[in-house]
Amino acid sequence: MYNLVRPSRKRWKYRDERKWIRTATFFFLVLGTLSLVARFFCSTSRKELHIVDIPRIHVGTLSAKDFFDEFGDTTPVIIEGEVRHHPAYNMSFDKLKELCGNAVVETKVFDENSVSWGGLEGTQYMLLSDYVDNHILNYENKDNKDGKPRYLTYGLGLPRICPKLELFTPVPKYVSLSVYEIDKKHYDATGGKRNQNTMPVMFMGNKNTKTEMHIDGSLSPFWMSVYVGSKTFRVITYKDAKWYLDLKNKRGWGNRILDGGRWERKKYNSTTRTADSRIMEIFRPDLEWFPELSSVTIYEGTVNAGDWIYLPSAALHGVLNNNLSWGVTVNALYPAVVDDHVSICADTGFKSNCYMYAAYSQCPFKELNLSPKKLSKRKLRRCLQSSSMLKDLELQLQDGLAREMHLHEIAGYDDYESWCKGQCSLYKSQTIESFTHGLIGYNLAMYNHTLKETCAQCDYVLEEKKTEYKWNS
Ligand SMILES: *[C@@H]1O[C@H](CO)[C@@H](O)[C@H](O)[C@H]1NC(C)=O
Ligand SMILES: *[C@@H]1O[C@H](CO)[C@@H](O)[C@H](O)[C@H]1NC(C)=O
Ligand SMILES: *[C@@H]1O[C@H](CO)[C@@H](O)[C@H](O)[C@H]1NC(C)=O
Ligand SMILES: *[C@@H]1O[C@H](CO)[C@@H](O)[C@H](O)[C@H]1NC(C)=O
Repeated sequence: MYNLVRPSRKRWKYRDERKWIRTATFFFLVLGTLSLVARFFCSTSRKELHIVDIPRIHVGTLSAKDFFDEFGDTTPVIIEGEVRHHPAYNMSFDKLKELCGNAVVETKVFDENSVSWGGLEGTQYMLLSDYVDNHILNYENKDNKDGKPRYLTYGLGLPRICPKLELFTPVPKYVSLSVYEIDKKHYDATGGKRNQNTMPVMFMGNKNTKTEMHIDGSLSPFWMSVYVGSKTFRVITYKDAKWYLDLKNKRGWGNRILDGGRWERKKYNSTTRTADSRIMEIFRPDLEWFPELSSVTIYEGTVNAGDWIYLPSAALHGVLNNNLSWGVTVNALYPAVVDDHVSICADTGFKSNCYMYAAYSQCPFKELNLSPKKLSKRKLRRCLQSSSMLKDLELQLQDGLAREMHLHEIAGYDDYESWCKGQCSLYKSQTIESFTHGLIGYNLAMYNHTLKETCAQCDYVLEEKKTEYKWNS
């Protein structure tokens, strides 16, 4: 019996299994076909950007430590009302002229055909008062305007051109504990004062002026305080860009954003037998030419006067001025994002001088044999982890000591006046070549003028300080 029954049960079981496998195969085939069909229809019909809102939180709801736990490495974030109590909030352009009218500023014009950084071209230097009069106030009604309104962009740091503005534009608590570009000689000569002259920078422009998609120098995180008007940001995180956009141009699809340029794609046109080309514009996307843009996640958010925005390391971003607007921005490195920054820096092959934070943080690069010619992810990480400057900043962050600060406090000075004099001594110690480094067309007369203007501002006293002005902590 035993022998009789067993084979038959076995056969039944075997048949059962076959039936089950056939059903399952059929089921999965149908499912696979359906999903392929669905994908096809979705990818052909969904010719639009995949936009999600940049998270928005309210001022006073996060400590600096929680801020980095939640947002630092991963997503852009807007903090509404963060800079509303700053004296620069809603400042009139007349007041700005009164404060900084004599500053020589760098201006550019957006050109859709330009492959340079952000699509900005045609550098011209001018006095801030002339810029405001000719490109900001009543620009629409002017009959003597030459072409598009100019955009006042980076180039010259605020401490260089109008140091007293630092009293109006403090640095929010999340990012005041930071490592940024310093002049090593001056740092040593002053016993460790961290004067910087390239940051912060202003971005000021009329309605529709813009910076097209780019990555910031040193692949660093970015922040901006918006004081007047409103700016719309479109942002793609580094990870997403790497996954979807041939960011490193490995497939040769013309993406030069990582090299400080733009993304220009060429296609052979069989009618004209020539190569056609298009440059990617995130605010006017051509999805026939750049279909990847419908797959990648694009964070979008509008930053209004009084709000503050933060972007993680190497995030791609384009910025459009919805109306007359003015913001102040800084690139720096924060203790909580060092690991992420090092990973991205190494992943790009150490592009855009991203390893320079090793020098600015005074980490032991000599001991570790770290030099621009001998970089490795492991060594760079070890160096930054051994930096006593970064360790100290990290401790302050962990101890809840992060607070809103003025540039002079961040640099290690007790007050505005001694900081301003320190800035002045820094300029005098630098060669004109290092002062004007990277500034095309900036001449000796402008340099002389700027030095004189800057050093004449050190006795300035903030009006509101005279009366009892209180900072929001
Ligand atoms: C901003 O300033 C303008 C004048 O420059 C004033 O009319 C307006 O009420 C101010 N807005 C806020 C919100 O303070
Ligand atoms: C090829 O070039 C012609 C003339 O510029 C244009 O009309 C046509 O659309 C182009 N073809 C493709 C496939 O882009
Ligand atoms: C600027 O644009 C924003 C967003 O479109 C709007 O909310 C704001 O009222 C505008 N401000 C001015 C001064 O036009
Ligand atoms: C700039 O200043 C230097 C030193 O004071 C002077 O020798 C030079 O002539 C000045 N140049 C211009 C163009 O003003």
